[in-house]
Amino acid sequence: MQLLEGKSVAEEYLRRLRPRLAVPGRPPCLAFLRVGDNPASLLYVNRKKSLAESLGMRALERQLPLDAPEGEIFSQLARWNGDPAVDGILVQAPLPGAELQERAFAAVDPLKDVDGFHPRNQGLLALDRPGGFVPCTALAILHLLRAHGIGLAGQHAVIIGRSTIVGRPLALLLQGRRVNATVTVCHRQSRDLAALCRSADVLIAAAGSAHLVGPDWVRDGAVVVDVGQNVLSLPGGGRRLVGDVDFAAIAPRCRAITPVPGGVGPMTVAMLMGNVLRAWELARGMAVDSIPQSY
Ligand code: GUN
Repeated sequence: MQLLEGKSVAEEYLRRLRPRLAVPGRPPCLAFLRVGDNPASLLYVNRKKSLAESLGMRALERQLPLDAPEGEIFSQLARWNGDPAVDGILVQAPLPGAELQERAFAAVDPLKDVDGFHPRNQGLLALDRPGGFVPCTALAILHLLRAHGIGLAGQHAVIIGRSTIVGRPLALLLQGRRVNATVTVCHRQSRDLAALCRSADVLIAAAGSAHLVGPDWVRDGAVVVDVGQNVLSLPGGGRRLVGDVDFAAIAPRCRAITPVPGGVGPMTVAMLMGNVLRAWELARGMAVDSIPQSY
């Protein structure tokens, strides 16, 4: 069994970004909008901010109360859209309400949409056209598998979860002409989920449900990618981060599997840094073609 470790792969990816940052002028600037006080969102934003700052980027944050009028969300996004000193804008999910969240994603300037959630960027991905921003978790999974020598062309990838953030963009990326996998997307209403998962060469769990995937969901020799980040409360009062996959039960049967933590998570924040760098290069007038492709 091969452990698809993400920390060192992320470090290597960031090491390769650094020379692109070492040019005169103002550094890239990434702005975060957080609504409410979801502790996981605070943790994720702090992690992204501190990584950006460790690379010499600037990070701005605005936190609005859960009951803030919608107008405040949209006027803040409009200010950042119009501010030439801001290169990337990230609306941390979840927002209070799926519909508001979709509208907030759509209100970010597509050229500053480093999360790749704007309909224009999702549309480019759906059309298999380069030039847009690709969501970070999808990129993270692709880079992680490539770095560990796992080929995807012709493989059957089964994705559990169809979110805007992970499942949908990942399905589009994997079935595109640069990757050429065959993709099945499963969700809550999929009939016989376990059998669908057993048909996977590469199983990607992005359901947000602790230990959903047990050993009878995985065929021998499969590659398993766990996107889940679930906090379990332990009987003694402690807390533990676990994935969507029951790692201990499944690992012995796999060809390769990602750990949680230390797998997809560190890769995702590294990919965000790559997207911010690209937004900054675009804002500095570099031609899209001269900027290294993100995948
Ligand atoms: N919430 C959970 N994951 C993400 C992410 O990748 N981006 C944003 N904006 N919010 C999230």
